[in-house]
Amino acid sequence: MHNKDLYRYFTSMKTPFYYYDIHLLHESLTRLRDSADKYDYQVHYAIKANANNRILEIIRDYGFGVDCVSGNEVKRAIEIGFDPKKIVFAGVGKSDDEICYSIDHSIFSFNCESIEEINVINEWGRKKKKVVAVSLRLNPDIDAVTHKYLTTGLPENKFGIPLQFLGKVIHQFKILTHVKLIGLHFHIGSQIRELGPYVELCEKVNAIQGTLSHKYGINLEHINLGGGLGINYENPDSELIPDYGNFFETIHKHLKLRKGQKVHFELGRSVVGQMGSLISRVLYIKKGLNKEFMILDAGMTDLIRPALYGAQHKIQNISKPEAQIMNYKYDVVGPVCESSDSFDDNVMLPITKRGDLVAIRSTGAYGEIMVSQYTLRDKPHAVYSDELTDGQGQLVFPQAAGM
Ligand code: LLP
Repeated sequence: MHNKDLYRYFTSMKTPFYYYDIHLLHESLTRLRDSADKYDYQVHYAIKANANNRILEIIRDYGFGVDCVSGNEVKRAIEIGFDPKKIVFAGVGKSDDEICYSIDHSIFSFNCESIEEINVINEWGRKKKKVVAVSLRLNPDIDAVTHKYLTTGLPENKFGIPLQFLGKVIHQFKILTHVKLIGLHFHIGSQIRELGPYVELCEKVNAIQGTLSHKYGINLEHINLGGGLGINYENPDSELIPDYGNFFETIHKHLKLRKGQKVHFELGRSVVGQMGSLISRVLYIKKGLNKEFMILDAGMTDLIRPALYGAQHKIQNISKPEAQIMNYKYDVVGPVCESSDSFDDNVMLPITKRGDLVAIRSTGAYGEIMVSQYTLRDKPHAVYSDELTDGQGQLVFPQAAGM
C-alpha cells in the first residue's frame, strides 16, 4: 500500500472492501515454495485463513496442498482443483458426513485428535471397504507464547491426543483393520513470532520418534508440524514477506528425521496475511468527553480480530498518504451496536475528516473469512490489485473493473 494513485482511485469505490495485493501474494508464494523446496518440505495451505476463491486458485497453481478443519473446507479445496492427495483434515469434532465425504475423496490424511474419532473413522472405512490413512495429532504440551486463544498445544487446550496416551493409541491401531497410521501431526498455535517454541517442538518430536521406534518398533513416514508462523502487524511494510528461509532452516537444524521421512507444514496467516487491507470510509469524527471517536463504515462484522482477540492492526489514513505529522489521537471504532466494536484506542493519525479513507492493514488472513452479518450488515466485497490494472500495469477506470 504505497501507491498514491491507487488511494485516489479507491475514493470512487463503495466501501468497506478487502483489497488484495495479488503481486505481493505471488511474491510470498514464490518465496515459500523456493524455501520449502530446498528441504523437500511439503506445504499444505491452511484454508481457514482465507478461502476466497480467487486467492485459492492462485495458491493452487503453486502446487501446494491444503490443510482443512471442516468438511466444507475439504469440499471447497476439491472444487477449486487442489489434489485430494495433498489434503489433510484436522479438527476435534469431525462429523460422520465430513468423515464420509473425505474418505470418498481419498484425501491424503485425517489428522485425528482422539481415540474415539479413530474408532469412528475405522468403522466408516470398514463400511466403505477402504483402509483410511490417519495421522495422530499429538498435544505436545508446548507453550507457543502467543495469545491465549491462539495456543493449541497445551494440556488445557482441547486439541490433540495427550502424549501420555500414545501407547494406548498404538495398541488400538493393532486392533483396527480399516485405518492405517501414516504419520504424526502437531500444531502448537498461531501468530508465533519467536522460533523458540518450534525448536522445542522439534526436540519433542525427536523424543517421540525415539519412543516410537525403540518401544513399539514403529517408524512413520510423515511428520506434520502444522502452521503458526506469525507476521508483523505493528510494522507490516518492514516485513511484507515472512522469513520462511530462516523458519525452515531452524526446523531442518533441529528435527531429526528417519530415512525416507517427509515433513509437512500447514501455513495460513504467513502466506496471505500481509497481502490484504480492509479499506473503509470515515463516517463521522465524533467528539467525546475526553476523546475523539473516528467512526468507520467497517466494523467488527467485517474484521472481528480486534474485538475477539484484542488484536491490533496498523491503521492508516490513506486519503492523506503524504502526511508526516501524526498529531491527532482517535479511538477508531465501527458502527455496530457493541462496545467491543472498536479497532483500536488512541491511534495517532493526521487530522482526519468525514469521507477520508483508512486502510486497516495485514487483514489478508482471518479477515474476510470471519465476516458475519450481525445486525444484518452487508458483507464487504473484495478488490484484487491485478483487476485494477491493464497489461502495462496502468490503472484502469473503476467502472471498467466492474466497480
Ligand atoms: N493447522 C491447524 C490445525 C490449525 O488449527 C491452524 C490454525 C493452522 C494450521 C494455521 O495456522 P496459521 O499458520 O494461520 O497460524 N482466527 C485466529 C487464528 C486461528 C488459527 C486457528 N488455527 C486469528 O485471527 O488470529
